[in-house]
Amino acid sequence: MILRINIGAFILTDAVRNAVHELGDDRLFLRSTLNVEEGGMAAALNFLSQHSTPELLIIETTAQDDALFDELNALADVCQPGTRVILIGAENDINLFKTLIDQGISQYFLETVTGEELKASVVDAFAEKAMNAKSRTIAFFGMRGGVGSSELAHNVASELAQLYNEDVILVDLDIAFGTAALSYNLQPAQTVADAIAQAGSMDEPLMMRYLESGAKNVSLLCAPGNLNSGIEITPQALEMVLKVIKQMASYVVLDIPHMWNPWVQDMLVDADDTVIVGTPDLYNLRDGKNLFEFLAPNRGMEAPTRLILNKVGELKKGALSEKEFTDVLGTKPSLSIPFDGDSFSAAMNNGELLRAVAAKADSTAIVQTLAQLVSGKETKTDLAKKSKGGLLASLLKK
Ligand SMILES: Nc1ncnc2c1ncn2[C@@H]1O[C@H](COP(=O)(O)OP(=O)(O)O)[C@@H](O)[C@H]1O
Ligand SMILES: [Mg+2]
Repeated sequence: MILRINIGAFILTDAVRNAVHELGDDRLFLRSTLNVEEGGMAAALNFLSQHSTPELLIIETTAQDDALFDELNALADVCQPGTRVILIGAENDINLFKTLIDQGISQYFLETVTGEELKASVVDAFAEKAMNAKSRTIAFFGMRGGVGSSELAHNVASELAQLYNEDVILVDLDIAFGTAALSYNLQPAQTVADAIAQAGSMDEPLMMRYLESGAKNVSLLCAPGNLNSGIEITPQALEMVLKVIKQMASYVVLDIPHMWNPWVQDMLVDADDTVIVGTPDLYNLRDGKNLFEFLAPNRGMEAPTRLILNKVGELKKGALSEKEFTDVLGTKPSLSIPFDGDSFSAAMNNGELLRAVAAKADSTAIVQTLAQLVSGKETKTDLAKKSKGGLLASLLKK
């Protein structure tokens, strides 16, 4: 999760100042603005009478009893409704605590607060906002190039549309080399490069011009797939484009190229479900370890980071086992997909998806299971219960 909020902190003590500065250093708040002022509640009231209200206020106060409620009433007068307030106060009274929460204070800390506590309560206060998002975003990223991340993203997009009969938008972010248009046999007139170039004026009608229809319920924002676009993605432009896209479909599938820069990091941290694809060899193990170490502290507990091992069985010698990945990455693979040259090359050469060229292949069934897992509608246990025996059951048992 990445929070994009304005925070105003009005503090009195060193300890709280340090806690607030710890927030500022946390990646969760990289895209937030943080304004820290001395002077506690008095400074907050003064500031708010002259400025618009930040989405989150962190306020320290020493007032007690009636004086405290006078302050809170004064605060309510200058605050826009819906503002989240975290209060650090001096009074230890359980009834007070209840009254404050009733009055719309998100959290009350007695006397002081640590950076961790503050972070946890901000996440709580804004979790609801994230839950209310219209769509679910699923990001696909390879530990290395060529591991099959794009192919899986394209197939999962189509499976989500078919399984749940919901709108899916597949966004190919590999500007120069993307293959989503090839997977869906499209010759896009407009691409993600055009959308990025127009990011500043993006809205739904404009976006409709850039989307191509790939299949029933699947629209694509294709990559140009050539070297000439001259467009470079920036975190800001991409955010503006995705903000609109997320209003337009139930699922947004992001095909992220194998590169490492701020917008890639944002996408991996921010997605509801991040799928990290690797093949079982040593280089993937090293890069996978680095990726999981980066993602674990930056993604919320609720948002899964999935490990998918792909092309399993391709290497006859020197392949690593699932267990080696589990031990080093601290995460079990959600699924392992066998190397299946016949099905994947047929899909590539025909410009079709696995379901069309290899309906009965094991790899097609596993990709369907992957779509179910990332859908957010079914848990692994649910899926295991539904499948009485057979391939799926054995996959999910692991
Ligand atoms: N399980 C698999 N078995 C065989 N070939 C695969 C498998 N998964 C992907 N491929 C093939 O690997 C190649 C690279 O896949 P791609 O999705 O472009 O990789 P990435 O996006 O990770 O760079 C493609 O030709 C794809 O069809
Ligand atoms: Mg790719």
